[in-house]
Amino acid sequence: MAYNLLQGKKGIVFGALDEHSIAWKAAKKIKEEGGSFTLTNAPIALRMGKIYELAASCQATVIPADATAIADLEQLFKESVEILGGKIDFILHAVGMSPNVRKNRSYGDLNYDWFLKTLDISALSFHKVMQTAEKLNAMNEWGSILGLSYIAAQRTFPDYSDMAQAKAMLESIARSYGYRLGKQNNVRVNTISQSPTHTKAGNGVPGFDKFYEYAHKMSPLGNASAASCADYIVLMFSDLSRMVTMQNLMHDGGFSSSGITEDIIQML
Ligand SMILES: NC(=O)c1ccc[n+]([C@@H]2O[C@H](COP(=O)([O-])OP(=O)(O)OC[C@H]3O[C@@H](n4cnc5c(N)ncnc54)[C@H](O)[C@@H]3O)[C@@H](O)[C@H]2O)c1
Repeated sequence: MAYNLLQGKKGIVFGALDEHSIAWKAAKKIKEEGGSFTLTNAPIALRMGKIYELAASCQATVIPADATAIADLEQLFKESVEILGGKIDFILHAVGMSPNVRKNRSYGDLNYDWFLKTLDISALSFHKVMQTAEKLNAMNEWGSILGLSYIAAQRTFPDYSDMAQAKAMLESIARSYGYRLGKQNNVRVNTISQSPTHTKAGNGVPGFDKFYEYAHKMSPLGNASAASCADYIVLMFSDLSRMVTMQNLMHDGGFSSSGITEDIIQML
């Protein structure tokens, strides 16, 4: 059921690769709620993924951009404002990648060039997106900007490797830039800390299936799905969440507040 929560709002959605992507589900839901947007992803992902399928179903234009490249981001914002016919109300940054995780490097044997790449793609790009938006004066008053995080920013999950540092940085950038944009333009900036979710990025973490099962049993509501994350994203882009900013919002079925659960005791 749709509520027209995003009627008339314009935005940019980063990170829809295939139908499992959190950004894919979010794009569908945003469309359902009346929002219009451009879709963007790294040029290589445009070739390998299915984003044009999504674009057709959402009447959205695809604009290639490497989220670490300022020139690409400037082009993305300029074109988006032109195509959408006005400034931006919402941005979903659903971008993450670690070469160290992808290539299964142990935490005691990290490649530091790759570590920097992890930070650049998965965290610094969030700052680059907001700095570009600010310099181009591309955001509307009371806009909403979201990044997607994971609880490994606060607690250790060994196989999450250098992505844990990237998420800690991402959440910190949300606070610092949230202050700045709030003062400037009443724009809010938050991160949503999502349950493990079966996507390309999620499945790339070693031992993900066990990880997923453990989190499911540790959460009284079970793992939050990508579809329910999309619902939460819509809420955070809507006018119903105007005074929420600089927060890391747990969307995890209760995982982060659970010590142990009966399901886990039974399993042991
Ligand atoms: N899947 C999970 O378990 C989980 C849990 C918590 C948070 N998250 C976060 O959610 C976000 C979305 O991931 P997902 O799980 O939907 O997986 P996904 O693999 O579908 O999406 C990740 C996206 O990042 C894009 N990307 C990578 N490098 C890029 C670059 N240089 N420029 C632009 N885009 C680039 C990829 O092309 C892809 O579309 C990520 O930040 C991820 O860390 C995922």
